Amino acid sequence: MKKYCYGICLVISVTINILLSIYIYAGGQKNQEISHRLSLTWTEKAAAEAEAVAAISCSGHGRAFLEGLIYDGQPVCECYDCYGGPDCSELSPECAADADSGDPIFLEPFWMQTAADSSVLIPGWHRMSYRYDDYTLMSRELEYYIRKLHSIVGNAITQGRYMVFGVGSSQLLTAALYALSSENSSSPSNVLATIPYYPMYKGQTVLFNSENFEFGGDTNSWQSINSTNSIDVVEFVTSPNNPDGELKKSVLGRKTIYDHAYFWPHFTPIPGPSDQDLMIFTLSKLTGHAGARFGWAIIKDKDVYEKLLNYIMVADLGISKDTQLRVLKLLKVAIEEDGKPLFEYSYNTMRDRWDRLTSIFSKSTRFSIQKRHPFHCNFFNETRLPSPAYAWVKCEREEDQDCSAVLEAGKIKGRGGSSFSAKKRYTRLSLIKSQDDFEMLMLRLTELVSLENGNIETM
Ligand SMILES: Cc1ncc(COP(=O)(O)O)c(C=O)c1O
Repeated sequence: MKKYCYGICLVISVTINILLSIYIYAGGQKNQEISHRLSLTWTEKAAAEAEAVAAISCSGHGRAFLEGLIYDGQPVCECYDCYGGPDCSELSPECAADADSGDPIFLEPFWMQTAADSSVLIPGWHRMSYRYDDYTLMSRELEYYIRKLHSIVGNAITQGRYMVFGVGSSQLLTAALYALSSENSSSPSNVLATIPYYPMYKGQTVLFNSENFEFGGDTNSWQSINSTNSIDVVEFVTSPNNPDGELKKSVLGRKTIYDHAYFWPHFTPIPGPSDQDLMIFTLSKLTGHAGARFGWAIIKDKDVYEKLLNYIMVADLGISKDTQLRVLKLLKVAIEEDGKPLFEYSYNTMRDRWDRLTSIFSKSTRFSIQKRHPFHCNFFNETRLPSPAYAWVKCEREEDQDCSAVLEAGKIKGRGGSSFSAKKRYTRLSLIKSQDDFEMLMLRLTELVSLENGNIETM
């Protein structure tokens, strides 16, 4: 009897202890949450300000920003192209579609959906120093997340490689040229790219007017004259290419700078990790945050790495710590669920845009766009068509020598082929702007193509 009594007492005691522990744990968590909420003091005003400006809807056709124009104490709506009025609700019916710039606003809805995870609050005293605690100018945590992102996407080898951050990839393009060009040679290195190429390569080379490098033009014209290998060359390889989306390889096989701005699953299937000596990536075309001005270089050789680092140090004393904090927050969201939410959103948006675009161009004999071929994407683990950031439009008619002018007459603003050192018969149309911009582009293209049967004179 006594034994049973002890047994029952023990069971009751254990049960009570378990219940008490659960109560204390759950209560503790709740208390923690409450104390967290109570401890919000100086952040409340900033948070309220941020939410208030975000709540200004601008009819869904624009945005208001804290550092934008203020009217009557209220932030003013900045309307997307073709929309106007105080709340961006007025569509201008005769407006031209602007498909000129490569502003990657197509990802804005994703970041609005993930606002709770991707927003960051910067205190007045945040990292006022030039440097981090370890005397570097780069956040190690951010570097870790960039490496992690590459390993998830499978688009670049980063193990055993050096990394340098830059003010956008634009700054790293010149930093890389500086690092690769020959200081001691009697003649400057020739900077080359393959037509059609991104105009900044030539623009920066000419602007910097360096004794160490000068612009040499198109790689193809160098293939024959440079057979002796005696002249130093640095080749920009843009892969996927801006403007035509091709996955380019080096033509000359000498010193290369691989510009991988668009080597992400939204624009191209990822066939495997790039393992080039010097690769440059940018946040602009990965998450769409061109305004944050952040890029990074992945480098094999230690000397080249040190030169690049020195360039960034001397040119700018490193890059903004506020930007690095923001990029870290964004990349943490980018790698959530192994990148699936971000890349599925971005790929689906680009695929839908390409489906609609190809449907319009399939009805035209006057205009054509680049051919796309499917190949296997390691990231999505299936064969897919590329969905490049730009359509590379060709005007097929003999008389349509200046394709930009033809499109402009049809109220479509693109970037002419000559900007990419290609024929004027080509024009680039940006497909990565806002949905409003894209809708206007679809409308104007449909009108233009429908005019083909006999009504061309009216344009
Ligand atoms: C091929 C290529 N490289 C580099 C850049 C520069 O990007 P950012 O300076 O925004 O990183 C761009 C921008 O459009 C680009 O198209």
